[in-house]
Amino acid sequence: MTNQIQIRKPDDWHLHLRDGAMLRAVAPVSAAQYARAIIMPNLVPPVVRGDDAAAYRQRILEALPSGSSIFPLMTLYLTEKTDPGDVAAAAATGLVRAVKLYPAGATTNSDSGVRDFTKIRPVLEQMAEIGLPLCVHGEVSDPDIDIFDREAVFIDRVLDPMRRQTPGLRVVMEHVTTAEGLDYVRSSESGLAATLTVHHLVINRNHILAGGIRPHYYCLPVAKRESHRQALHAAAMSGDRRFFLGTDSAPHVDAAKESSCGCAGCFTALNGLNILAQIFDEAGKLDTLQTFVSLNGPAFYGLAPNEVQIVLVKEKTPVVFPGYIMTGDGPVTVFDPGFPVYWRVAE
Ligand code: NCD
Ligand code: ZN
Repeated sequence: MTNQIQIRKPDDWHLHLRDGAMLRAVAPVSAAQYARAIIMPNLVPPVVRGDDAAAYRQRILEALPSGSSIFPLMTLYLTEKTDPGDVAAAAATGLVRAVKLYPAGATTNSDSGVRDFTKIRPVLEQMAEIGLPLCVHGEVSDPDIDIFDREAVFIDRVLDPMRRQTPGLRVVMEHVTTAEGLDYVRSSESGLAATLTVHHLVINRNHILAGGIRPHYYCLPVAKRESHRQALHAAAMSGDRRFFLGTDSAPHVDAAKESSCGCAGCFTALNGLNILAQIFDEAGKLDTLQTFVSLNGPAFYGLAPNEVQIVLVKEKTPVVFPGYIMTGDGPVTVFDPGFPVYWRVAE
């Protein structure tokens, strides 16, 4: 029985760090497990221009206590007014590593997102030319489309036509939740990849809704039925280079989640890696964990994998995680996988 593995330090290819007091509380938590992270730009107001990204990057670095480090890979929030020249300039310096597409209204802080996809054609053309990836929140926000179908409909109505119109555009389908999403990614030999979250590997829609409503399992895209979760499992553990970890750790204070209109997001930064080690171990797939968390992401983004190694240790008794972390804005509940986790990251 394996009770210890050493792997290259993982990266998180989709992370919400927020700003201000929340940023100061959650940045060190991610830094404890990940070397680099793709930082989501959905602040209020959003990170739209290269200058915004440079200032936000500085705030992230200043929020880290001494001895704590995570390398922020910045993204820009795509709007209908985004200037292709500004994107190209921010990418040329290495400051910005991707552009994030939120369909307007699809999720938290997406009001400035895209309504008319024809308006972003010039930016997409520019990105295809310079090889800058587009990270996509792949859900339509049309009220007529059932929330459980929004990912599959987005692929047919928006993503596939967009990719056909812009050959060479590199795309990451973020937080894929459906078998249809996985199949779509597999249908392309190059230039298309997907991030998978920890929570979508753990929960299905029953966890949110059966036996009482559990706001801390509510996130977007919303978790789907069990067969989809199983398909995500298989993809994460397959070693397929097109799938890699993006936690989508999305902290909200408990008061905002435990409300008559609770916000979407699961806070998985604290125990995500522990949970992944547990589920890969249980499936007899620990040998593909490093590929998923440390190798496939950098390969897609054209970066070298981390040289630093970490050791994961399997304990005899379950690791006890705090129920919440305290932030200057209030408590944030830590994601509860609902099963015992024996793996910890060694100091
Ligand atoms: C994210 C957030 O809170 O910023 N929420 C979520 O449920 N994942 C936004 C997002 O990535 O959709
Ligand atoms: Zn997200």
